Amino acid sequence: MPTETVYGLAADAGNARAVAAVYEAKGRPSFNPLIAHAADVAMARRIARFDARAEALAARFWPGPLTLVLPVAGGEAVCDLARAGLDTVAVRVPGHPLAHALIARFGGPVVAPSANRSGRPSPTTFADAMEETGPAAAAALDGGACEVGLESTVVALLDAARLLRPGAVTRAEIEAVVGPLAEAEDDAKRSPGRLARHYAPNAPVRLDVTEPDAGEAWLSFGAAGRGPWNLSPAGDLREAAANLFAYLRAADRTAPAGIAVAPIPHEGLGEAINDRLKRAAGFVG
Ligand code: TXA
Ligand code: MG
Repeated sequence: MPTETVYGLAADAGNARAVAAVYEAKGRPSFNPLIAHAADVAMARRIARFDARAEALAARFWPGPLTLVLPVAGGEAVCDLARAGLDTVAVRVPGHPLAHALIARFGGPVVAPSANRSGRPSPTTFADAMEETGPAAAAALDGGACEVGLESTVVALLDAARLLRPGAVTRAEIEAVVGPLAEAEDDAKRSPGRLARHYAPNAPVRLDVTEPDAGEAWLSFGAAGRGPWNLSPAGDLREAAANLFAYLRAADRTAPAGIAVAPIPHEGLGEAINDRLKRAAGFVG
């Protein structure tokens, strides 16, 4: 299923067998819960308990690339396995017209983790999605290249509003609605998917490189960049986000000695880009 962020591997959120097949196709540990995708806020409210902050964020950013972690509402709409047994649930209303049509016609929530195999970069084109987990899917929807290219921002609203995963909606945009965000108190526990090595290509990744070594593929940025993988010659972070995973994959396909990445400004969308790069390089700091 295409979404505006990245392609997802979709399944009926209430069907434990279908959900198990998703974990299996991704090679994903079953302690790492999935996001339930709803067609609209009304469907989302049947899955999760919304407080005033959740209502305000949903009104501002849905449909769109924001995921809310909320207390689960009663019922079996999102099965235990999809929630990894937690009493919370991650929910979002995606902005892509094909995703919306699919979920609306299905009539219930659809889980959709990024369609990569666990630990790999998320697919942002139909071809990349097919290469990752396509063979496991009964059907595949081609929505072209994903407009945003980075996963949704994940915000937990269980006590203080916490940023669990920086993403396509920036910290500043969220804080404009709910005030200052607290940090995730325990990265691994609060958002179990935040493993240290993630989004990783095969080649080793080296960050903040202004001059690559011989044999390295260079993901450059801005006017000083060169080569086939300048994330944004104009220095535009939106463009860089949209190109990031596709360029990581394209560079990796040339089997380089390593992938060197230019420094990316840490403002706005840069926070999410640098988060993914840090993990692709194998460390969290
Ligand atoms: O943009 C996106 O969000 C894409 C598209 C396909 O919608 N989906 C996506 O799903 O990135 P996934 O499964 O790759 O990432 C979901 C993240 C993981 O880090 C997971 O640990 C976290 O959300 N998550 C899910 N349920 C949670 C919960 N109840 N509490 C804390 N974190 C949760
Ligand atoms: Mg993922």
